[in-house]
Amino acid sequence: MAYAADAPPNIRTPSGEAFTRWLAVVLTVVIFAGGLFGYDQGVISGALPGLKADFSLSLLMVQVVTSWVTLGALAGSLAGGVLGDWIGRKRTLLFAGALFALGAAVQWLAPGVAVLVAGRFIVGVAVGVAAVAAPLYAAELAPANFRGRFISSYQLAITAGIFLAYLVNAQLSASADWRLMLGAAAIPGLGLFAIALVAPESPRWLMVKNRRGDAATEMNKIQPGVDVDRQLDSIQTALRQGERAAPWGEIFYHEWRRPLVVAVGLAVFQQITGINAIIYYANQIFASAGFATEAARATVTTWAIGGVNVLATLIAIAFIDRIGRRILLLAGLIGMGASLAVVGAAFQFIAPEGEIAAAAGPTTAGIVTVIALVVFITSFAFSLGPVTWTVINEVFPARVRGRGVAFATAVNWGSAYLVSQFFLSLVDAIGSSLTFFLFALFCAVGWAWVYCVVPETKRQSLEQIQHMWAARGG
Ligand code: BGC
Repeated sequence: MAYAADAPPNIRTPSGEAFTRWLAVVLTVVIFAGGLFGYDQGVISGALPGLKADFSLSLLMVQVVTSWVTLGALAGSLAGGVLGDWIGRKRTLLFAGALFALGAAVQWLAPGVAVLVAGRFIVGVAVGVAAVAAPLYAAELAPANFRGRFISSYQLAITAGIFLAYLVNAQLSASADWRLMLGAAAIPGLGLFAIALVAPESPRWLMVKNRRGDAATEMNKIQPGVDVDRQLDSIQTALRQGERAAPWGEIFYHEWRRPLVVAVGLAVFQQITGINAIIYYANQIFASAGFATEAARATVTTWAIGGVNVLATLIAIAFIDRIGRRILLLAGLIGMGASLAVVGAAFQFIAPEGEIAAAAGPTTAGIVTVIALVVFITSFAFSLGPVTWTVINEVFPARVRGRGVAFATAVNWGSAYLVSQFFLSLVDAIGSSLTFFLFALFCAVGWAWVYCVVPETKRQSLEQIQHMWAARGG
């Protein structure tokens, strides 16, 4: 996400009303982008029952409808970096906002499954583009001491988006109005478009494009009264000192191997430990656990998954810079692995989904499942959720940061796609119990990997992190 180098010196000593107003604009952009990402992830869990009823979806099509957002996001995250460099940060965000609205409208009006899947894919591309462009924009404009909080705010916005989607799902569960659930994302999409319209272009990008006059105009807007020429000169110097983006191939050079392994490894473990199987299919998991009515399922999904996810992310924001990334990751992975093992064990006692209608309410095993999933979500939300994005953004040296982050983001969505595409098939083939045991096993492997490979980066400047890699031999 954080594409370019550290915040330019021009905005390191912020103050005044103009700065505050502008900071609010940048934060709003990040919050809209993260919120839309979350909303589009969370909403499908509530839309599926209505979709299945209207279109008689096969198991394969349920997974396609669910997972094509992630497939689109994979493409969008690769395109987002290139687009941001080409047409600028601001216009890329405008493009993402418009695409969100378009994708939501296509889903809303979809006459059949093919159009619906196209709408899902369009929204996915928007998610991917915004997920690279918004934090990149923020990273270029944020003063260094705000950067960490901006990244955590992005994750907080994702969880708030998921929560909001669950609330909408619960509200509409009785009517199963999937068109409204999916179409409602058009409104924040237009919101992102509107806020991007008034947002300033990044002076740093304008300088890369040799548009010093425009850069001066934007900088004047952001901080009226500063010595613009001096600020632009220092950006110019930083650019000359080799901060220009490296070509794609360079991220695979031997010298960047370690940060690449750390970023990609976290991106993969964040997904293969099962978070989105639960975010997307929560409703169905709770159905199997004995929550017989749609309303009961919607309530438990909203609060046990959505609400807990938001609250536990606040823990990470409070502690990520104090106790550090490694401890959060190691503690979180223990909680995730243990709770998934409990879910796996509970499913040994749970009847197949087809039999739930006969059940009077959630069984003991069902209640154990809910408690274990709350522990799982809490553990994820204070560890692999936000820490992954933070570390991905800080481990790469400036020269390859943009491409490195875009690559790791794409790998994250590739992994999310695989999990959401094959989760139900896996459950079908080996059963829920073994599937959750498998996720638990990945947590154990992830723990050992984090212990051996991921360094502590708390309170280090990006340059210190770069030196650390050099000292460790590339
Ligand atoms: C992940 C998403 C996930 C979300 C859940 C994010 O960090 O990248 O895939 O749905 O957390 O809160």
